[in-house]
Amino acid sequence: MMQQANLPTHIGIIMDGNGRWAKKRGLPRKMGHRAGASTFKEIARYANKIGLKYLTTYVFSTENWKRPKDEVDSIIELLRSYLNEMDGYAKENIRVRFIGDRSVFDDDIRAKMQRAEEKSRNATGLTLILAINYGGRAEIVHAARMLADDVQAGKIFPHQVNESLFSSYLYTDGIPDVDLIIRPSGEYRLSNFLIWQCAYAEYVFMSGVLWPDFKPATLDAAIAEYNSRSRRFGGLANE
Ligand code: FPP
Repeated sequence: MMQQANLPTHIGIIMDGNGRWAKKRGLPRKMGHRAGASTFKEIARYANKIGLKYLTTYVFSTENWKRPKDEVDSIIELLRSYLNEMDGYAKENIRVRFIGDRSVFDDDIRAKMQRAEEKSRNATGLTLILAINYGGRAEIVHAARMLADDVQAGKIFPHQVNESLFSSYLYTDGIPDVDLIIRPSGEYRLSNFLIWQCAYAEYVFMSGVLWPDFKPATLDAAIAEYNSRSRRFGGLANE
């Protein structure tokens, strides 16, 4: 395990390249997602071990429904079986949260999400956030709608609306902004992931690795790259 000089508080990962990983091996795409789910579990545990406070992973976007039904079903099934394993996280001091519109999922999935969140709510180690049926624009629109409801109900006046109040209507209420976004597999986009929360994030694109091949050492390398950057938040560098 590498000694990290300066651990970011919040890392986001776009788990890309499962399909290509499978194709390279002549396997169906769903085998790539299965391998990706196992990488995800390993990286979550490792992140907790090194003392990371927040890790958000892009599991399923609002746009992923456009994929063939067979592939969508296989990802939902992986999620269902993974949800059954989540009880162990409380013991590992990992707190779980889900962001995205969960209203579309079957009752059993929603109940398991809620159970995992409740069981782990007192954990003080890593907060592991899974973005499922998540889209950044949809999140902002959803927040705006709830805020409009509160204004209409007279709970808030328009002049009180500022960045901090608006943030509290996002799914990520209470979670600090993203410091570092990691995207493997050679795509150089944010793909509607945490668009509000990434306003000052550093981006590390790792073109040489597909998500199922991502290792703890790959995460170390991304954090080392982050540490080599100078973050200024619009100000001047500290000399
Ligand atoms: C992107 O790879 C990956 C996804 C759209 C799904 C991510 C899902 C997992 C990692 C598995 C499920 C995880 C859990 C926790 C149940 P891609 O399919 O776009 O790859 P490609 O660009 O090579 O086609």
